[in-house]
Amino acid sequence: MSVSTGKNKYKYRLVSHYNSNPIITEAYRTLRTNIQFASGNHEIKTLLVTSTIPNEGKSTTISNLAMTYAEMNKKVLLIDADLRRPTLHRIFSSSTRFGLSNLLTNQCKLEDAITETFVPNLSLITSGPLISNPYELLGSNRVEELLNQLKPLYDMILIDSSPVLAVSDSQLLSVKCDGVLYVINYGKVKRAAAQKAITSLSHAEANVLGVVINNKKRIDHEAAYY
Ligand SMILES: Nc1ncnc2c1ncn2[C@@H]1O[C@H](COP(=O)(O)OP(=O)(O)OP(=O)(O)O)[C@@H](O)[C@H]1O
Ligand SMILES: [Mg+2]
Repeated sequence: MSVSTGKNKYKYRLVSHYNSNPIITEAYRTLRTNIQFASGNHEIKTLLVTSTIPNEGKSTTISNLAMTYAEMNKKVLLIDADLRRPTLHRIFSSSTRFGLSNLLTNQCKLEDAITETFVPNLSLITSGPLISNPYELLGSNRVEELLNQLKPLYDMILIDSSPVLAVSDSQLLSVKCDGVLYVINYGKVKRAAAQKAITSLSHAEANVLGVVINNKKRIDHEAAYY
């Protein structure tokens, strides 16, 4: 895997790495702890992130969360299952030559699709080359087979996906994962739209663990308390 030397603006989404502000790092650690509490007695090994509409911060959230799991010495795998607008390969300066789309079509071996990132303990399966039928592939039994193959190899598998109201890909995936993290970009998405999307996930019997309110401006009295 090649690591970019500076022109990659996407890498700055790894705020917990490139930004020295301890409040940001702490926010992702708190998220990790809250996931643990929200899961109760159920072990969460596969966690999907989704949102209502595009650009709410799914990829940013899941990437930074993955880093906080990795820093706990957990063996972590990030999978880019947003097969329509993949970004994890950009954030981690990796290649999409081999990735999830190849694995789901049996066109490469597992070891060819897993790349190591510059973060110790953090591996990545990129989207792979773009394909014309993501919905069919993500709904196939091959996804379960693949997750079952991967689960014994990692402590935590974090999966990025597409927004619920745009396409149904994330609904298909959500029921195959132990938990779902729902990102809401504060002020960007309408409350009714988010409610509708979360209800549709619940109807599909996804285990929605909680909501991450992203991009909320901190107000002064909050800053004082923390
Ligand atoms: N907490 C945040 N504060 C400031 N900017 C943010 C925050 N979270 C995300 N962003 C910015 O918002 C944009 C969208 O983020 P990101 O790519 O993570 O969203 P996404 O939901 O994965 O989008 P898509 O639907 O295209 O997959 C990026 O430019 C990112 O840097
Ligand atoms: Mg994304």
